[in-house]
Amino acid sequence: MRKRLSVLIPGLILIAVGTAVFAQFQSGSYGSTQTNSIEQTVPPQLAQDGNFSVAPFPSFVPELAEGEGRAETQDFCTTCHSTRYITMQPPLPAPTWDAEVNKMIKTFGASIPEATAKEIISYLQEHYTPENRKH
Ligand code: HEC
Repeated sequence: MRKRLSVLIPGLILIAVGTAVFAQFQSGSYGSTQTNSIEQTVPPQLAQDGNFSVAPFPSFVPELAEGEGRAETQDFCTTCHSTRYITMQPPLPAPTWDAEVNKMIKTFGASIPEATAKEIISYLQEHYTPENRKH
């Protein structure tokens, strides 16, 4: 009887340990049958047509004063910024407008023909100085 138990107990222990080790392999997804398998969700599908719509940016474009040279000012002074840069200035003395237009050309690289630049300067000097600015 004792001899039988001495075989049976180690045998049962061996089976228990074996089952526990096997259970370890099964839990998780890195068992010997599924090496390196990491489960991830499928990434969301991207839009295929790439069509997006954006509403117009709400920017205020002020009316410039009526007068000769207005069209040129509107054409040449709106390449980089709106005419708001003109109207948001305080009334500037005539020589300051001259310097301002020349700064746009020389410093910031505005490409404005010389004759047109002169027309723009006269226009600004006739409508945007402390003596004549109306609004
Ligand atoms: C090549 C681009 C360009 C063109 C064209 C241009 N500007 Fe500018 N303007 C600038 C830049 C750059 C500034 C400085 C912007 C800032 O500081 O935020 C500026 C600023 C100004 C300012 C604000 C005062 C200052 O000196 O910073 C006024 C006024 C102005 N511009 C008037 C004009 C007028 C008038 C014309 C047409 C003759 C004109 N700009 C054309 C680039 C340009």
